[in-house]
Amino acid sequence: MTDVTLSSKNPTAVKAEALVVATAQTSDGVAVVSDQLPTDLLTELESLAPQLGVTGARDEVRKIPAGPKLAADVLVLTGLGERAEDGTFATETLRRAAGAATRELAGLRSAAIALPASDDDEITAVTEGALLGAYAFNRYRTSGKDAGKDSTGKDGAKAAKNGKDPVASIEILTPLHKNAKAKVAAERAEIVAAAVHAARDLVNAAPNELYPATFADAAKAAAKDVRHVKVTVLDDKQLASGGYGGLTAVGQGSSRGPRLVKVAYTPAKPNGKVALVGKGITFDSGGISIKPAAGMEAMKSDMAGAAAVLSTVVAAAKLNLPVAVTGYLCLAENMPGGNAQRPADVITIYGGKTVEVLNTDAEGRIVMADGLVSAIEDGHDVVLDIATLTGAQMVALGNRTSAVMGTDEVRDEVKAAADTSGELFWPMPLPEELKSNIKSKVADVANSGPRWGGMLNAGLFLQTFVGDHPWAHLDIAGPAFNEGGAHGYTPGGGTGVGVRTLLSFLEGRAK
Ligand code: BES
Ligand code: MN
Ligand code: ZN
Repeated sequence: MTDVTLSSKNPTAVKAEALVVATAQTSDGVAVVSDQLPTDLLTELESLAPQLGVTGARDEVRKIPAGPKLAADVLVLTGLGERAEDGTFATETLRRAAGAATRELAGLRSAAIALPASDDDEITAVTEGALLGAYAFNRYRTSGKDAGKDSTGKDGAKAAKNGKDPVASIEILTPLHKNAKAKVAAERAEIVAAAVHAARDLVNAAPNELYPATFADAAKAAAKDVRHVKVTVLDDKQLASGGYGGLTAVGQGSSRGPRLVKVAYTPAKPNGKVALVGKGITFDSGGISIKPAAGMEAMKSDMAGAAAVLSTVVAAAKLNLPVAVTGYLCLAENMPGGNAQRPADVITIYGGKTVEVLNTDAEGRIVMADGLVSAIEDGHDVVLDIATLTGAQMVALGNRTSAVMGTDEVRDEVKAAADTSGELFWPMPLPEELKSNIKSKVADVANSGPRWGGMLNAGLFLQTFVGDHPWAHLDIAGPAFNEGGAHGYTPGGGTGVGVRTLLSFLEGRAK
Protein backbone atom coordinates (compact mmCIF):
# COMPACT_ATOMS: atom_id res chain seq x y z
CA MET A 1 0.00 0.00 0.00
CA THR A 2 0.98 3.61 -0.51
CA ASP A 3 3.23 4.93 2.21
CA VAL A 4 1.77 7.91 4.10
CA THR A 5 3.30 10.49 6.44
CA LEU A 6 2.06 13.68 8.06
CA SER A 7 4.25 16.70 7.42
CA SER A 8 4.27 20.40 8.17
CA LYS A 9 6.19 21.40 5.05
CA ASN A 10 5.01 24.46 3.21
CA PRO A 11 3.22 23.41 0.00
CA THR A 12 5.38 25.77 -2.06
CA ALA A 13 8.58 24.14 -0.82
CA VAL A 14 7.64 20.47 -0.86
CA LYS A 15 9.71 18.56 -3.43
CA ALA A 16 7.24 15.97 -4.62
CA GLU A 17 6.37 14.92 -8.15
CA ALA A 18 2.86 16.23 -7.57
CA LEU A 19 1.22 18.71 -5.21
CA VAL A 20 -2.53 18.27 -4.67
CA VAL A 21 -4.58 21.37 -3.87
CA ALA A 22 -8.37 21.74 -3.60
CA THR A 23 -10.62 23.95 -5.67
CA ALA A 24 -14.15 25.03 -4.82
CA GLN A 25 -17.11 26.60 -6.58
CA THR A 26 -18.05 30.05 -5.36
CA SER A 27 -20.64 32.60 -6.43
CA ASP A 28 -18.03 34.42 -8.51
CA GLY A 29 -16.09 31.51 -9.98
CA VAL A 30 -13.40 29.19 -8.75
CA ALA A 31 -11.58 29.43 -5.43
CA VAL A 32 -8.31 27.66 -4.73
CA VAL A 33 -8.69 26.41 -1.17
CA SER A 34 -5.36 26.95 0.53
CA ASP A 35 -4.21 29.13 3.38
CA GLN A 36 -0.57 28.36 2.64
CA LEU A 37 -0.06 29.09 -1.03
CA PRO A 38 1.10 32.68 -1.76
CA THR A 39 -1.73 35.07 -2.68
CA ASP A 40 -0.26 35.98 -6.08
CA LEU A 41 -0.25 32.31 -7.07
CA LEU A 42 -3.84 31.84 -5.87
CA THR A 43 -4.99 34.89 -7.85
CA GLU A 44 -3.16 33.69 -10.95
CA LEU A 45 -4.71 30.21 -10.74
CA GLU A 46 -8.18 31.53 -10.05
CA SER A 47 -8.07 33.91 -12.99
CA LEU A 48 -6.73 31.20 -15.32
CA ALA A 49 -9.35 28.69 -14.17
CA PRO A 50 -11.80 29.26 -17.06
CA GLN A 51 -9.08 28.69 -19.69
CA LEU A 52 -7.91 25.59 -17.83
CA GLY A 53 -11.46 24.27 -17.74
CA VAL A 54 -11.33 24.22 -13.95
CA THR A 55 -14.69 24.78 -12.27
CA GLY A 56 -14.08 23.46 -8.75
CA ALA A 57 -16.90 20.92 -9.15
CA ARG A 58 -16.88 17.68 -7.18
CA ASP A 59 -15.01 14.82 -8.86
CA GLU A 60 -13.14 17.26 -11.15
CA VAL A 61 -9.37 16.68 -11.24
CA ARG A 62 -6.96 18.69 -13.43
CA LYS A 63 -3.18 18.38 -13.70
CA ILE A 64 -1.07 21.35 -14.78
CA PRO A 65 2.65 22.13 -14.76
CA ALA A 66 3.49 23.49 -11.32
CA GLY A 67 5.51 26.46 -12.61
CA PRO A 68 8.46 28.28 -11.01
CA LYS A 69 6.67 29.26 -7.78
CA LEU A 70 6.37 25.66 -6.59
CA ALA A 71 9.01 23.04 -5.84
CA ALA A 72 6.71 20.25 -7.01
CA ASP A 73 6.65 19.20 -10.69
CA VAL A 74 2.91 19.00 -11.26
CA LEU A 75 -0.01 20.77 -9.61
CA VAL A 76 -3.16 18.66 -9.21
CA LEU A 77 -6.39 20.57 -8.65
CA THR A 78 -9.17 18.49 -7.12
CA GLY A 79 -12.71 19.84 -6.83
CA LEU A 80 -14.74 20.07 -3.60
CA GLY A 81 -17.87 21.67 -5.04
CA GLU A 82 -19.61 24.33 -2.98
CA ARG A 83 -18.92 25.08 0.67
CA ALA A 84 -21.54 24.06 3.22
CA GLU A 85 -23.48 26.90 4.82
CA ASP A 86 -21.08 27.05 7.75
CA GLY A 87 -18.21 27.63 5.31
CA THR A 88 -16.63 24.18 5.74
CA PHE A 89 -16.59 21.06 3.59
CA ALA A 90 -18.14 17.78 4.74
CA THR A 91 -15.54 15.16 5.68
CA GLU A 92 -16.91 12.86 2.99
CA THR A 93 -16.34 15.63 0.43
CA LEU A 94 -12.68 15.80 1.50
CA ARG A 95 -12.40 12.02 1.37
CA ARG A 96 -13.75 11.92 -2.18
CA ALA A 97 -11.62 14.78 -3.43
CA ALA A 98 -8.47 13.26 -1.95
CA GLY A 99 -9.28 9.90 -3.54
CA ALA A 100 -10.19 11.36 -6.93
CA ALA A 101 -6.77 13.08 -6.89
CA THR A 102 -4.72 10.03 -5.90
CA ARG A 103 -6.42 7.97 -8.62
CA GLU A 104 -4.81 10.43 -11.06
CA LEU A 105 -1.40 9.97 -9.46
CA ALA A 106 -0.95 6.32 -10.45
CA GLY A 107 2.58 5.62 -11.66
CA LEU A 108 4.17 8.43 -9.61
CA ARG A 109 6.61 7.94 -6.76
CA SER A 110 5.77 10.89 -4.54
CA ALA A 111 2.99 13.38 -3.90
CA ALA A 112 2.07 15.94 -1.29
CA ILE A 113 -1.54 16.65 -0.41
CA ALA A 114 -2.48 20.12 0.79
CA LEU A 115 -6.23 19.70 1.40
CA PRO A 116 -7.90 21.12 4.53
CA ALA A 117 -6.38 19.06 7.41
CA SER A 118 -6.56 21.15 10.53
CA ASP A 119 -8.33 18.76 12.92
CA ASP A 120 -8.28 15.00 13.39
CA ASP A 121 -11.59 14.47 11.53
CA GLU A 122 -10.20 16.24 8.48
CA ILE A 123 -6.90 14.34 8.74
CA THR A 124 -8.82 11.07 8.94
CA ALA A 125 -10.89 11.98 5.89
CA VAL A 126 -8.00 13.20 3.74
CA THR A 127 -5.74 10.26 4.65
CA GLU A 128 -8.50 7.68 4.19
CA GLY A 129 -9.65 9.19 0.92
CA ALA A 130 -6.11 9.45 -0.45
CA LEU A 131 -5.33 5.83 0.40
CA LEU A 132 -8.70 4.52 -0.79
CA GLY A 133 -8.11 6.18 -4.16
CA ALA A 134 -4.58 4.81 -4.37
CA TYR A 135 -5.65 1.30 -5.35
CA ALA A 136 -4.91 -0.91 -8.32
CA PHE A 137 -5.52 -4.55 -9.05
CA ASN A 138 -2.92 -5.82 -11.54
CA ARG A 139 -2.49 -9.35 -10.27
CA TYR A 140 -3.46 -11.04 -13.51
CA ARG A 141 -1.57 -8.83 -15.96
CA THR A 142 1.41 -10.57 -17.55
CA SER A 143 3.70 -7.79 -18.77
CA GLY A 144 4.70 -4.28 -17.90
CA LYS A 145 6.15 -2.67 -14.85
CA ASP A 146 3.38 -3.54 -12.43
CA ALA A 147 3.01 -7.13 -13.51
CA GLY A 148 1.25 -9.39 -11.13
CA LYS A 149 0.64 -7.02 -8.25
CA ASP A 150 -2.35 -6.77 -5.99
CA SER A 151 -2.93 -3.95 -3.52
CA THR A 152 -0.31 -5.31 -1.14
CA GLY A 153 2.28 -4.74 -3.87
CA LYS A 154 3.60 -8.24 -3.59
CA ASP A 155 4.31 -10.10 -6.81
CA GLY A 156 1.70 -12.60 -7.83
CA ALA A 157 2.44 -15.89 -9.52
CA LYS A 158 1.86 -14.41 -12.94
CA ALA A 159 3.02 -11.19 -13.93
CA ALA A 160 1.28 -7.61 -15.84
CA LYS A 161 0.25 -5.26 -18.60
CA ASN A 162 -0.37 -1.52 -18.75
CA GLY A 163 -1.76 -1.37 -15.23
CA LYS A 164 -0.04 1.35 -13.26
CA ASP A 165 0.89 1.06 -9.60
CA PRO A 166 -0.66 3.53 -7.19
CA VAL A 167 1.55 6.46 -6.14
CA ALA A 168 4.30 5.04 -3.92
CA SER A 169 4.28 7.61 -1.13
CA ILE A 170 2.25 10.61 -0.04
CA GLU A 171 2.79 13.37 2.48
CA ILE A 172 -0.31 14.87 4.05
CA LEU A 173 0.49 18.50 4.78
CA THR A 174 -1.01 19.56 8.10
CA PRO A 175 -0.11 21.98 10.88
CA LEU A 176 -0.93 19.11 13.29
CA HIS A 177 1.80 16.79 12.03
CA LYS A 178 3.22 16.32 15.54
CA ASN A 179 -0.11 16.20 17.37
CA ALA A 180 -0.69 12.80 19.03
CA LYS A 181 -4.39 12.63 18.10
CA ALA A 182 -3.56 13.48 14.49
CA LYS A 183 -1.03 10.66 14.36
CA VAL A 184 -3.56 8.21 15.79
CA ALA A 185 -6.08 9.42 13.19
CA ALA A 186 -3.61 8.82 10.36
CA GLU A 187 -2.66 5.37 11.66
CA ARG A 188 -6.31 4.43 11.97
CA ALA A 189 -6.89 5.62 8.40
CA GLU A 190 -4.08 3.38 7.20
CA ILE A 191 -5.58 0.33 8.91
CA VAL A 192 -9.04 1.13 7.56
CA ALA A 193 -7.77 1.65 4.00
CA ALA A 194 -5.72 -1.56 4.11
CA ALA A 195 -8.88 -3.40 5.21
CA VAL A 196 -10.91 -1.93 2.34
CA HIS A 197 -8.14 -2.80 -0.14
CA ALA A 198 -8.03 -6.37 1.14
CA ALA A 199 -11.80 -6.70 0.65
CA ARG A 200 -11.50 -5.28 -2.89
CA ASP A 201 -8.70 -7.72 -3.72
CA LEU A 202 -10.88 -10.65 -2.65
CA VAL A 203 -13.84 -9.40 -4.69
CA ASN A 204 -11.64 -8.81 -7.76
CA ALA A 205 -10.03 -12.24 -7.53
CA ALA A 206 -11.09 -14.58 -10.32
CA PRO A 207 -13.59 -17.23 -9.23
CA ASN A 208 -11.47 -20.10 -10.56
CA GLU A 209 -8.84 -18.98 -8.06
CA LEU A 210 -11.05 -17.87 -5.17
CA TYR A 211 -13.50 -20.59 -4.14
CA PRO A 212 -14.61 -21.67 -0.66
CA ALA A 213 -11.47 -23.63 0.25
CA THR A 214 -9.08 -20.94 -0.99
CA PHE A 215 -11.18 -18.20 0.63
CA ALA A 216 -10.77 -20.11 3.91
CA ASP A 217 -7.00 -20.16 3.28
CA ALA A 218 -7.10 -16.41 2.62
CA ALA A 219 -8.87 -15.90 5.95
CA LYS A 220 -6.13 -17.85 7.73
CA ALA A 221 -3.45 -15.85 5.93
CA ALA A 222 -5.13 -12.52 6.77
CA ALA A 223 -5.36 -13.43 10.47
CA LYS A 224 -1.85 -14.85 10.73
CA ASP A 225 0.26 -12.86 13.19
CA VAL A 226 -2.71 -10.71 14.19
CA ARG A 227 -3.00 -10.79 17.97
CA HIS A 228 -6.14 -12.27 19.58
CA VAL A 229 -7.60 -13.51 16.27
CA LYS A 230 -8.41 -17.18 15.76
CA VAL A 231 -9.74 -18.79 12.58
CA THR A 232 -11.67 -22.06 12.52
CA VAL A 233 -12.91 -23.76 9.37
CA LEU A 234 -15.73 -26.25 8.96
CA ASP A 235 -15.31 -28.16 5.68
CA ASP A 236 -18.04 -29.71 3.54
CA LYS A 237 -18.06 -33.02 5.45
CA GLN A 238 -18.24 -31.30 8.83
CA LEU A 239 -21.02 -29.03 7.56
CA ALA A 240 -23.08 -31.96 6.30
CA SER A 241 -22.66 -34.00 9.47
CA GLY A 242 -23.13 -30.92 11.67
CA GLY A 243 -26.55 -30.14 10.21
CA TYR A 244 -25.64 -27.02 8.22
CA GLY A 245 -28.22 -27.85 5.59
CA GLY A 246 -28.15 -24.44 3.90
CA LEU A 247 -24.46 -24.31 3.05
CA THR A 248 -24.55 -28.00 2.14
CA ALA A 249 -27.51 -27.61 -0.24
CA VAL A 250 -26.15 -24.55 -2.04
CA GLY A 251 -22.64 -25.99 -2.26
CA GLN A 252 -23.60 -29.43 -3.54
CA GLY A 253 -23.90 -28.40 -7.18
CA SER A 254 -20.21 -27.51 -7.29
CA SER A 255 -17.18 -29.76 -7.29
CA ARG A 256 -15.68 -27.29 -4.84
CA GLY A 257 -17.34 -27.81 -1.49
CA PRO A 258 -18.68 -25.17 0.91
CA ARG A 259 -16.97 -23.89 4.06
CA LEU A 260 -18.08 -22.05 7.18
CA VAL A 261 -15.19 -19.98 8.47
CA LYS A 262 -15.30 -18.39 11.92
CA VAL A 263 -12.89 -15.53 12.48
CA ALA A 264 -12.93 -14.63 16.17
CA TYR A 265 -11.28 -11.57 17.68
CA THR A 266 -11.25 -11.75 21.47
CA PRO A 267 -9.50 -8.87 23.24
CA ALA A 268 -8.59 -9.16 26.91
CA LYS A 269 -11.50 -7.17 28.42
CA PRO A 270 -14.20 -6.85 25.78
CA ASN A 271 -17.15 -4.46 26.16
CA GLY A 272 -19.66 -6.83 24.62
CA LYS A 273 -19.71 -9.28 21.78
CA VAL A 274 -20.73 -8.66 18.18
CA ALA A 275 -21.34 -11.21 15.41
CA LEU A 276 -20.83 -10.34 11.73
CA VAL A 277 -22.23 -12.80 9.20
CA GLY A 278 -21.12 -12.45 5.58
CA LYS A 279 -22.48 -13.92 2.35
CA GLY A 280 -19.63 -15.63 0.55
CA ILE A 281 -20.93 -17.07 -2.70
CA THR A 282 -17.64 -17.20 -4.61
CA PHE A 283 -19.59 -17.49 -7.84
CA ASP A 284 -23.35 -17.29 -8.31
CA SER A 285 -24.41 -18.93 -11.55
CA GLY A 286 -27.94 -19.18 -10.16
CA GLY A 287 -27.66 -22.98 -9.99
CA ILE A 288 -30.44 -24.91 -11.75
CA SER A 289 -32.46 -21.65 -11.81
CA ILE A 290 -29.57 -20.44 -13.94
CA LYS A 291 -28.89 -16.78 -14.62
CA PRO A 292 -28.75 -15.32 -18.14
CA ALA A 293 -25.24 -15.22 -19.68
CA ALA A 294 -25.13 -11.43 -20.04
CA GLY A 295 -23.44 -9.94 -17.01
CA MET A 296 -22.98 -13.22 -15.18
CA GLU A 297 -19.27 -12.47 -14.76
CA ALA A 298 -20.16 -9.84 -12.16
CA MET A 299 -21.32 -12.69 -9.93
CA LYS A 300 -17.74 -13.31 -8.88
CA SER A 301 -18.51 -10.43 -6.52
CA ASP A 302 -21.21 -12.37 -4.67
CA MET A 303 -18.79 -12.96 -1.81
CA ALA A 304 -18.34 -9.24 -1.06
CA GLY A 305 -20.22 -9.53 2.26
CA ALA A 306 -17.85 -12.22 3.52
CA ALA A 307 -14.86 -10.21 2.28
CA ALA A 308 -16.08 -7.16 4.22
CA VAL A 309 -16.56 -9.26 7.35
CA LEU A 310 -13.09 -10.79 7.18
CA SER A 311 -11.45 -7.40 6.62
CA THR A 312 -13.46 -5.81 9.42
CA VAL A 313 -12.57 -8.41 12.04
CA VAL A 314 -8.86 -8.22 11.17
CA ALA A 315 -8.96 -4.40 11.25
CA ALA A 316 -10.82 -4.39 14.58
CA ALA A 317 -7.98 -6.48 16.00
CA LYS A 318 -5.30 -4.23 14.50
CA LEU A 319 -7.07 -1.23 16.03
CA ASN A 320 -7.20 -3.05 19.40
CA LEU A 321 -10.91 -2.26 19.73
CA PRO A 322 -12.16 -3.35 23.17
CA VAL A 323 -15.09 -5.32 21.74
CA ALA A 324 -15.20 -9.02 20.88
CA VAL A 325 -16.14 -9.73 17.27
CA THR A 326 -16.78 -13.02 15.52
CA GLY A 327 -17.04 -13.13 11.75
CA TYR A 328 -18.97 -15.95 10.10
CA LEU A 329 -18.03 -16.40 6.46
CA CYS A 330 -20.73 -18.43 4.70
CA LEU A 331 -18.79 -19.75 1.71
CA ALA A 332 -20.20 -21.76 -1.18
CA GLU A 333 -20.15 -21.83 -4.96
CA ASN A 334 -23.63 -21.86 -6.53
CA MET A 335 -23.33 -24.13 -9.56
CA PRO A 336 -25.75 -26.30 -11.56
CA GLY A 337 -23.76 -29.57 -11.33
CA GLY A 338 -25.33 -33.02 -11.45
CA ASN A 339 -25.77 -33.06 -7.70
CA ALA A 340 -27.17 -29.53 -7.52
CA GLN A 341 -30.27 -28.77 -5.47
CA ARG A 342 -33.52 -28.50 -7.43
CA PRO A 343 -36.44 -26.12 -7.21
CA ALA A 344 -38.91 -27.96 -4.90
CA ASP A 345 -36.19 -29.44 -2.68
CA VAL A 346 -36.84 -29.12 1.04
CA ILE A 347 -33.77 -28.58 3.15
CA THR A 348 -33.12 -28.23 6.89
CA ILE A 349 -31.19 -25.20 8.09
CA TYR A 350 -28.84 -25.43 11.11
CA GLY A 351 -31.09 -25.43 14.15
CA GLY A 352 -33.93 -27.36 12.49
CA LYS A 353 -36.15 -25.00 10.48
CA THR A 354 -37.09 -26.26 7.02
CA VAL A 355 -36.94 -24.32 3.76
CA GLU A 356 -38.64 -25.07 0.47
CA VAL A 357 -36.23 -24.08 -2.29
CA LEU A 358 -38.42 -22.54 -4.97
CA ASN A 359 -35.56 -20.81 -6.74
CA THR A 360 -31.95 -21.98 -6.51
CA ASP A 361 -30.81 -18.45 -7.42
CA ALA A 362 -32.08 -17.21 -4.05
CA GLU A 363 -29.10 -19.04 -2.53
CA GLY A 364 -27.63 -16.23 -0.43
CA ARG A 365 -30.42 -16.24 2.14
CA ILE A 366 -30.05 -20.03 2.46
CA VAL A 367 -26.36 -19.96 3.39
CA MET A 368 -26.90 -16.88 5.56
CA ALA A 369 -29.60 -18.73 7.53
CA ASP A 370 -27.02 -21.31 8.68
CA GLY A 371 -24.61 -18.51 9.60
CA LEU A 372 -27.21 -16.47 11.50
CA VAL A 373 -28.46 -19.42 13.56
CA SER A 374 -24.90 -20.41 14.34
CA ALA A 375 -24.02 -16.83 15.41
CA ILE A 376 -27.04 -16.58 17.69
CA GLU A 377 -26.26 -19.97 19.21
CA ASP A 378 -22.74 -18.78 20.06
CA GLY A 379 -24.19 -15.91 22.11
CA HIS A 380 -23.70 -12.34 20.89
CA ASP A 381 -25.21 -9.04 22.03
CA VAL A 382 -26.00 -8.13 18.47
CA VAL A 383 -25.79 -9.80 15.06
CA LEU A 384 -25.14 -7.90 11.83
CA ASP A 385 -25.24 -9.61 8.48
CA ILE A 386 -23.97 -8.26 5.19
CA ALA A 387 -24.74 -9.69 1.79
CA THR A 388 -25.03 -9.00 -1.93
CA LEU A 389 -28.47 -10.45 -1.44
CA THR A 390 -30.93 -9.12 -4.02
CA GLY A 391 -31.16 -7.50 -7.43
CA ALA A 392 -34.16 -5.73 -5.93
CA GLN A 393 -31.78 -3.74 -3.72
CA MET A 394 -30.44 -2.09 -6.87
CA VAL A 395 -33.94 -1.50 -8.22
CA ALA A 396 -34.84 0.29 -4.98
CA LEU A 397 -31.68 2.26 -4.23
CA GLY A 398 -29.38 2.13 -7.24
CA ASN A 399 -25.77 1.06 -7.09
CA ARG A 400 -24.32 3.64 -4.73
CA THR A 401 -26.64 3.34 -1.73
CA SER A 402 -26.88 0.18 0.36
CA ALA A 403 -29.90 -0.87 2.38
CA VAL A 404 -30.20 -1.68 6.07
CA MET A 405 -33.09 -3.53 7.70
CA GLY A 406 -33.55 -5.12 11.11
CA THR A 407 -34.66 -4.45 14.66
CA ASP A 408 -35.32 -0.72 14.99
CA GLU A 409 -32.44 0.26 17.30
CA VAL A 410 -29.75 -1.77 15.58
CA ARG A 411 -30.90 -0.65 12.14
CA ASP A 412 -30.64 2.98 13.26
CA GLU A 413 -27.26 2.31 14.87
CA VAL A 414 -25.95 0.94 11.57
CA LYS A 415 -27.33 3.91 9.66
CA ALA A 416 -25.60 6.29 12.09
CA ALA A 417 -22.34 4.32 11.78
CA ALA A 418 -22.59 4.51 7.99
CA ASP A 419 -23.10 8.28 8.15
CA THR A 420 -20.03 8.66 10.36
CA SER A 421 -17.90 6.53 8.05
CA GLY A 422 -19.01 8.26 4.84
CA GLU A 423 -20.72 5.19 3.32
CA LEU A 424 -24.23 5.57 1.93
CA PHE A 425 -26.85 3.38 3.59
CA TRP A 426 -30.61 3.83 3.78
CA PRO A 427 -33.09 2.20 6.19
CA MET A 428 -35.75 -0.10 4.76
CA PRO A 429 -38.75 -1.68 6.51
CA LEU A 430 -39.56 -5.33 7.17
CA PRO A 431 -43.36 -5.15 6.90
CA GLU A 432 -45.29 -7.84 8.74
CA GLU A 433 -47.78 -7.74 5.84
CA LEU A 434 -45.23 -9.17 3.39
CA LYS A 435 -44.54 -12.29 5.44
CA SER A 436 -47.16 -14.16 3.44
CA ASN A 437 -44.87 -13.69 0.40
CA ILE A 438 -42.48 -16.32 1.68
CA LYS A 439 -45.04 -18.83 2.94
CA SER A 440 -44.39 -22.36 1.74
CA LYS A 441 -47.04 -24.92 0.90
CA VAL A 442 -44.88 -27.68 2.36
CA ALA A 443 -42.11 -26.32 4.61
CA ASP A 444 -41.65 -23.70 7.36
CA VAL A 445 -40.68 -21.03 4.85
CA ALA A 446 -40.00 -20.64 1.11
CA ASN A 447 -36.75 -19.13 -0.16
CA SER A 448 -38.37 -16.88 -2.72
CA GLY A 449 -41.52 -14.90 -3.27
CA PRO A 450 -43.02 -12.48 -5.74
CA ARG A 451 -40.79 -9.94 -7.46
CA TRP A 452 -42.32 -6.94 -5.72
CA GLY A 453 -40.55 -6.05 -2.52
CA GLY A 454 -37.84 -8.58 -3.37
CA MET A 455 -35.31 -7.00 -0.99
CA LEU A 456 -37.81 -7.00 1.86
CA ASN A 457 -38.89 -10.58 1.17
CA ALA A 458 -35.23 -11.60 1.53
CA GLY A 459 -34.92 -9.58 4.75
CA LEU A 460 -38.06 -11.20 6.13
CA PHE A 461 -36.68 -14.64 5.23
CA LEU A 462 -33.54 -13.90 7.28
CA GLN A 463 -35.67 -12.55 10.12
CA THR A 464 -37.31 -15.99 10.39
CA PHE A 465 -33.95 -17.33 11.60
CA VAL A 466 -33.12 -14.42 13.89
CA GLY A 467 -36.38 -14.08 15.81
CA ASP A 468 -36.34 -10.94 17.93
CA HIS A 469 -32.61 -10.98 18.64
CA PRO A 470 -31.00 -7.54 18.13
CA TRP A 471 -30.03 -7.66 14.48
CA ALA A 472 -29.49 -5.75 11.28
CA HIS A 473 -29.22 -6.93 7.70
CA LEU A 474 -27.11 -4.94 5.21
CA ASP A 475 -27.92 -5.54 1.53
CA ILE A 476 -24.95 -4.28 -0.53
CA ALA A 477 -25.87 -5.91 -3.89
CA GLY A 478 -25.41 -2.73 -5.96
CA PRO A 479 -22.59 -0.87 -4.19
CA ALA A 480 -20.30 -3.91 -3.73
CA PHE A 481 -19.14 -4.04 -7.33
CA ASN A 482 -18.67 -1.01 -9.56
CA GLU A 483 -19.33 -2.03 -13.17
CA GLY A 484 -18.95 1.58 -14.34
CA GLY A 485 -16.01 3.96 -14.22
CA ALA A 486 -14.09 4.96 -11.11
CA HIS A 487 -15.39 7.95 -9.13
CA GLY A 488 -14.10 9.72 -6.04
CA TYR A 489 -12.10 7.15 -4.07
CA THR A 490 -14.10 4.27 -5.57
CA PRO A 491 -12.37 2.19 -8.25
CA GLY A 492 -14.01 0.03 -10.87
CA GLY A 493 -14.63 -3.55 -9.71
CA GLY A 494 -14.72 -4.47 -6.03
CA THR A 495 -15.37 -1.44 -3.82
CA GLY A 496 -14.89 -2.87 -0.32
CA VAL A 497 -18.21 -1.33 0.73
CA GLY A 498 -19.37 -2.18 4.24
CA VAL A 499 -15.95 -2.35 5.88
CA ARG A 500 -16.02 1.26 7.03
CA THR A 501 -19.60 1.09 8.28
CA LEU A 502 -18.99 -2.14 10.19
CA LEU A 503 -15.81 -0.75 11.74
CA SER A 504 -17.53 2.45 12.72
CA PHE A 505 -20.35 0.36 14.27
CA LEU A 506 -17.77 -1.59 16.29
CA GLU A 507 -16.03 1.61 17.36
CA GLY A 508 -19.39 2.88 18.60
CA ARG A 509 -19.91 -0.31 20.60
CA ALA A 510 -16.38 -0.15 21.99
CA LYS A 511 -17.00 3.17 23.72
N1 BES B 1 -26.44 -12.58 -5.89
C1 BES B 1 -27.76 -12.33 -6.29
C2 BES B 1 -28.18 -10.88 -6.07
C3 BES B 1 -27.45 -9.85 -6.88
C4 BES B 1 -27.93 -9.46 -8.12
C5 BES B 1 -26.31 -9.25 -6.39
C6 BES B 1 -27.26 -8.51 -8.86
C7 BES B 1 -25.65 -8.29 -7.13
C8 BES B 1 -26.11 -7.92 -8.36
C9 BES B 1 -28.73 -13.22 -5.54
O1 BES B 1 -28.23 -14.46 -5.18
C10 BES B 1 -29.89 -13.46 -6.43
O2 BES B 1 -29.72 -14.06 -7.45
N2 BES B 1 -31.07 -13.01 -6.01
C11 BES B 1 -32.25 -13.17 -6.78
C12 BES B 1 -33.35 -13.61 -5.85
C13 BES B 1 -34.62 -14.02 -6.54
C14 BES B 1 -34.39 -15.29 -7.33
C15 BES B 1 -35.70 -14.23 -5.50
C16 BES B 1 -32.59 -11.83 -7.42
O3 BES B 1 -32.40 -10.80 -6.75
O4 BES B 1 -32.98 -11.81 -8.56
MN1 MN C 1 -28.42 -15.89 -6.74
ZN1 ZN D 1 -26.21 -14.58 -4.92
